[in-house]
Amino acid sequence: MKIDIINGPNLNLIGQRQPEIYGQETFDEVLEKWRTTFSVELNLLQNNVEGELVNLLHASSADGIIINAGAYTHTSIALRDAIAGIKKPVIEVHMSNVAGRESFRHESFLTPVCMGCVFGFGMDSYRLAIDQLIHHLRS
Ligand code: DQA
Repeated sequence: MKIDIINGPNLNLIGQRQPEIYGQETFDEVLEKWRTTFSVELNLLQNNVEGELVNLLHASSADGIIINAGAYTHTSIALRDAIAGIKKPVIEVHMSNVAGRESFRHESFLTPVCMGCVFGFGMDSYRLAIDQLIHHLRS
């Protein structure tokens, strides 16, 4: 089983970016743990450009996708259409509790076309989403 984790803009800076919100752990550190915990192929992809994220969604050969589109979550009809247009399960993830932050972060263009959304648990948001995606793909 193959899962792609697609990260959007500024998520390449996790570990140094606003650690009071996003913590200090890096994706390299947690990926190593997740690869031991879950016996599936996990690929981490990241891009800061909206259209490139659309391309990653189209090109994915994974069985399922976890996406944190960063700020594009709140603006991108193109990403919403891309998710709606591919025939595989997609779970939306956010590290921070977007519902408790600025009002412009309260709306997600992506949630309606995703299987579900996990937010507010830092890196654990991804872990919970991986767990759920595996459960879904195996059932
Ligand atoms: C984020 C929340 C977004 O509002 C923000 O723009 C991000 C990160 C999160 O993981 O909490 O870049 O997606």
